Amino acid sequence: MRLAPRVPYKETIHIKCKVGWIKARCEDLSLFGIKFRYINGESCEHHEWVKLKLRINNRSTVFRGRIYRKEDKRAVVLFNEEDRTLSDLLGGFFTETIKRSGKCPYCKARISPESLDCPNCHMPLDFTRVDLIQALRRIKVGDIIAGKLPEEVRGKVCEEKTDFIGSCKKMREVFDLIRRFASTDYPVLILGETGTGKELTAKAIHERSIRKDGPFLAINCGAIPKELLEAELFGYEKGAFTGADRKRAGKIELADGGTLFLDEIGDLPFPLQVKLLRFLEDYTFDRIGGNRSQKADVRIIAATNKDIEELVREGRFREDLYYRLKVLSIKLPPLREREDDIVLMAKYFLEKFKREQGRDIEGFTDDAMELIKNYAWPGNVRELINVIKKAVVMTDKRFIDSGDLDINSSFVSKNVSGKRLFDLKEHMERLERELVEKAFRITGGNVSRMSSMLGVSRPTVYKLIEKYGLI
Ligand SMILES: Nc1ncnc2c1ncn2[C@@H]1O[C@H](COP(=O)(O)OP(=O)(O)OP(=O)(O)O)[C@@H](O)[C@H]1O
Ligand SMILES: [Mg+2]
Repeated sequence: MRLAPRVPYKETIHIKCKVGWIKARCEDLSLFGIKFRYINGESCEHHEWVKLKLRINNRSTVFRGRIYRKEDKRAVVLFNEEDRTLSDLLGGFFTETIKRSGKCPYCKARISPESLDCPNCHMPLDFTRVDLIQALRRIKVGDIIAGKLPEEVRGKVCEEKTDFIGSCKKMREVFDLIRRFASTDYPVLILGETGTGKELTAKAIHERSIRKDGPFLAINCGAIPKELLEAELFGYEKGAFTGADRKRAGKIELADGGTLFLDEIGDLPFPLQVKLLRFLEDYTFDRIGGNRSQKADVRIIAATNKDIEELVREGRFREDLYYRLKVLSIKLPPLREREDDIVLMAKYFLEKFKREQGRDIEGFTDDAMELIKNYAWPGNVRELINVIKKAVVMTDKRFIDSGDLDINSSFVSKNVSGKRLFDLKEHMERLERELVEKAFRITGGNVSRMSSMLGVSRPTVYKLIEKYGLI
């Protein structure tokens, strides 16, 4: 997203679209577009090309642009004008309005009417310069101002947002990365076990980024059949395949101006990995059956709960794509490694659900609290939420007891259920099975290669193959 300064502009504007001329009330004017609310019940179509009539310095001025629908009654138009036209039509108006406001539009520091640059963040403020308009249109936010902005405007801290909870050291580090990454426009890779909050993290980055007014779309690469995934991502032209009776935009196109969250990226089929890499290189893509490349201004955030480095080593995930994605990456800790956060969250969700369900529950018994602390939470935060929600529904008591918590007792540590959480033998065996299975897959069951790969003798390989029922 671009560094477009905004100025207040609460005027009525006229828009020429398919329906004819319609009226709207402007909410926000930036150098590159305008945000408004329709007022007479009429509206334009999403992605429609339109003309806009605005009064700038008491002169009626016409801009061409494209509609991006936000809500029923709200939309933005991104101007489709040359840099020179924008600086001629809007440059003087922006420079004057911003100077009159006395505040830098980027960092909100005080500026004097003579300032050509902001004394605090050093951004140039003379918008009549075509070279500045050109630069602002091409440079991404993270390239030039990340790190230079004063702390207080670098984005709100995550902890302040409701429902994203964490106070342990590992989560504070995660929140710090979210804030840092939100101020750039590069792809992000989020890693973590199931239910650790990967999607929540992606949304938090989007909401704190300059794209926050654009769409946030998600697609689960593992849940959509391979044959449909390409159409879902890139869209298709009419007649591209049997049944394609009209053209359809893919998620990449629909996320224009916003963020696309690619969940379970490890499941993205190889040919689509190539296409995604190309998109990340120059932000162009082709619809299926299309013969003209298109551009989309989309930030990609990808996530996986798989060991992606392992997928790369096994040749199932492209190394070049992995290196492109992993530049900014966040590893979410499993819930069992979040110290007191488990208790904090348990109490938070109890409050939330008892209020939602109008239940008069006072808290957890000591036993229940012990269980909550000692359980390994293999399904992480999602599991914690579900267990507490169910307990609130099912209990008849004023305190939730350990019996009300519907959890898998084999994941509870010794002091609660008598079983060991860190049973070494059990864990070693699982690890052994995983490694043997992997070696078997990679070598296609070749015993000599497995023996050198695993560093054990051939007879041992035979024994292991038999032990784990691989043939
Ligand atoms: N730190 C947190 N504070 C509060 N709620 C959280 C937190 N982390 C996750 N959640 C909640 O837990 C649920 C699961 O989170 P999310 O869907 O983001 O996990 P995920 O890592 O994407 O899981 P999966 O790998 O299964 O797709 C969601 O309801 C989310 O809002
Ligand atoms: Mg998810």
